[in-house]
Amino acid sequence: MHPEQVLDYLLSQDQKQIQQLIKQAGQVRDAQRGRQVYLRGLIEISNQCSYNCLYCGIRRKRHNLIRYRLDRDTIIKLALFTWQQGYHSICLQSGQIDDPAWLSEIIEIVHQIKTQTRQLDPNGQGLGITLSLGELSPAQYQAFFDAGAHRYLLRIESSNPDLFASIHPPGQSYDQRINCLSQLKSIGYQVGTGIMIGLPGQKAHHLLQDLEFFKNLDVDMLGMGPYIPHPDAPLYRSRKPTHLSPYLSTLKMLALCRITMPDINMVASTALQSIHPQGLQMGLDAGANVVMPVLTPDEVREQYSLYAGKKNRSGQELLSAIRACGYEPGLYTWGDAPHYHKRLQHR
Ligand code: 5AD
Repeated sequence: MHPEQVLDYLLSQDQKQIQQLIKQAGQVRDAQRGRQVYLRGLIEISNQCSYNCLYCGIRRKRHNLIRYRLDRDTIIKLALFTWQQGYHSICLQSGQIDDPAWLSEIIEIVHQIKTQTRQLDPNGQGLGITLSLGELSPAQYQAFFDAGAHRYLLRIESSNPDLFASIHPPGQSYDQRINCLSQLKSIGYQVGTGIMIGLPGQKAHHLLQDLEFFKNLDVDMLGMGPYIPHPDAPLYRSRKPTHLSPYLSTLKMLALCRITMPDINMVASTALQSIHPQGLQMGLDAGANVVMPVLTPDEVREQYSLYAGKKNRSGQELLSAIRACGYEPGLYTWGDAPHYHKRLQHR
């Protein structure tokens, strides 16, 4: 699609035109990927974070939040439970980690999960393990890869350096984020990135730039969701205007990305499901093909409060919801993006 046409859609207020875009994206997804929706059991292993992202509810300087860490047994039990449920992929997520001992512990946990679930799998693959643990060193990324993780999610949040700088404190650098993404790729991970949509000061041309960024990075996976202000995070009090509708613009971006990158995986994010009752249905209709049921234990779920009103949907509820939306849960499979395998062939 021509950049001007993308921009035209991003600026459009015309319901008919937007519906037509979503319909086209759905057709591309059906033709290229079918109607399977893959599941990633999300385990939010800790809400400790050494970063201070201005939008985030688990930022270090938020002092009115009880911090937790799940222990090894709990994480491994949850992973085995995920396997038994037939979701053959998990995602371990946490805030930015600055404790080397805890990091080594997680590497060991990944290794254990991989070893134990391989023994349960007639094909010997075991659980697919995705990580979303922030910015680490190349050696640390490599250690996780060697321990058995094969996908990594690291959102750029906005690919525009100025917009990025306006939502992060000075110490957190755009270039560092880009370095991490390229290191992950060269190690051999399936790499996912993504953005928040509807940020203060963000305009349609930023989203066009994001789409170009995803294409140039040659991503395998995308996670895009609406920005949802958190009252305990500084960006809540931003005086910059919101130009984009977080919900509608997220749907448009999903559709545009599906049409321009048919063979990647895209999540119907929890944030999208949280801001609108039709979020799951519309996200899937606009081309998303992944959902992440939350497996984090009830006792700590509320503490992983990235934004206000986070809707933590668990497995069974999501399975029924996927079916009710007219899609089929992709069970007993990793559900990799074909893009990754094509990318490797051309290396
Ligand atoms: N609104 C929406 N998404 C948020 N995230 C963090 N804070 C918010 C918020 N206020 C997202 C970021 C991060 C992911 C784990 O959660 O994009 O990468």
